[in-house]
Amino acid sequence: MINLHEPTFDLEDEEYVLKALRSSWVSTGGPFVNTFEKEFAEFVGAKHAISVCNGTIGIQLSIEALKYKQQTFQSFDIIIPSLTFIATANAIVHAGGSPKFIDVEENSFQFSIENFKNYTLNNYDYRFEQKCWVNKLTGNKLLAFIPVHVMGWSAAERQLLQEISEEFKITILEDAAEALGTYNLDGSHIGNSSLAAIYSFNGNKVLTTGGGGMITTNETEFAKHLKHLSTTAKIDNLRFIHDEVGYNFRLVNLLAALGCSQLKKLKSRLVRKKEIFNLYSKYLQSPFLSIYSQKNCNSNNWLICTVFEDFNLREKVLTVLLENKIQVRPLWMPCHLQPAYQTENNLLLANTEDIWKRTLSLPSSPQILDEEIKYISDLILFSLSGE
Ligand SMILES: Cc1ncc(COP(=O)(O)O)c(C=O)c1O
Repeated sequence: MINLHEPTFDLEDEEYVLKALRSSWVSTGGPFVNTFEKEFAEFVGAKHAISVCNGTIGIQLSIEALKYKQQTFQSFDIIIPSLTFIATANAIVHAGGSPKFIDVEENSFQFSIENFKNYTLNNYDYRFEQKCWVNKLTGNKLLAFIPVHVMGWSAAERQLLQEISEEFKITILEDAAEALGTYNLDGSHIGNSSLAAIYSFNGNKVLTTGGGGMITTNETEFAKHLKHLSTTAKIDNLRFIHDEVGYNFRLVNLLAALGCSQLKKLKSRLVRKKEIFNLYSKYLQSPFLSIYSQKNCNSNNWLICTVFEDFNLREKVLTVLLENKIQVRPLWMPCHLQPAYQTENNLLLANTEDIWKRTLSLPSSPQILDEEIKYISDLILFSLSGE
């Protein structure tokens, strides 16, 4: 079986985990959490990084802290692209809000600015006295907009996100779960265009701690509150006094140790990921497909995706590859079509549905062999040869 995206560990990773294990600091205390947060913040060029148990919880916690920052005690909406892993929507619900789904650009994984603007203007009124958008039908406050850096490609240029945020007076949180190691064209790391960005360290990501996540922000007060909320909002370590209903959302020392050693290797891993993208691009020359890419960033090339001419070709290739023990995957079913979000099932988001039906993610592990990429590409071309 050639898998979609496998983690890689070396002796150094083992030594780091063993060091944490032998120190007996496996849980909440221990030095690796602080070190990982500090080094991660440096890597992405953010002032602060707050580690959490996983990316989903990172999104939820950021929303909780945002509710506090905006003193929002009423029902609220958050706009997100429908083309995302369901975790983005779920985290909003977990934090007590309603996700509102918008369409992507044509032939793209990324949200459409026009759709965002139209959706907001059609569905919300701006209330000057409260300084917020209010849903015309439900009265819900529009708390935020969460663009998603899908598959490691930038959701939008840094400047553009900042412009939307200013023009619409709306807070942006970035779902960067898949995009650690993706850079804007000016060389800055993505995720610094907004109040906060959330990363995932799930086993299939470019950096993994098994499970884990990180929130980065440049706002010191917001960072302090995130840390406070994630560590049970404790204000007295001896007598266990808590000033808010906090959460136990922190990353444990054992996993942070793995994060520290994984981070050391990230730069070289990204070089290999780029090579993988280049090899697929070289081998997969066909009028029936294209390798997905965008010009607005230098991607971490998390999962290399092929976009086919139509759904039937995609399905044909999918079947052949699976039969040959090659793990490929269509994009996630868009959120607005998910049984879990039944009330949204009648939405028509044409671009999202189109790209979802035509895309296939290919094996993209850093340790995949060049010959394996050639073999997979040949199989794809062979499956299309009768067309
Ligand atoms: C776009 C997106 N958002 C959120 C998440 C959630 O991250 P996690 O799996 O660490 O909870 C993922 C995860 O894998 C993701 O791909």
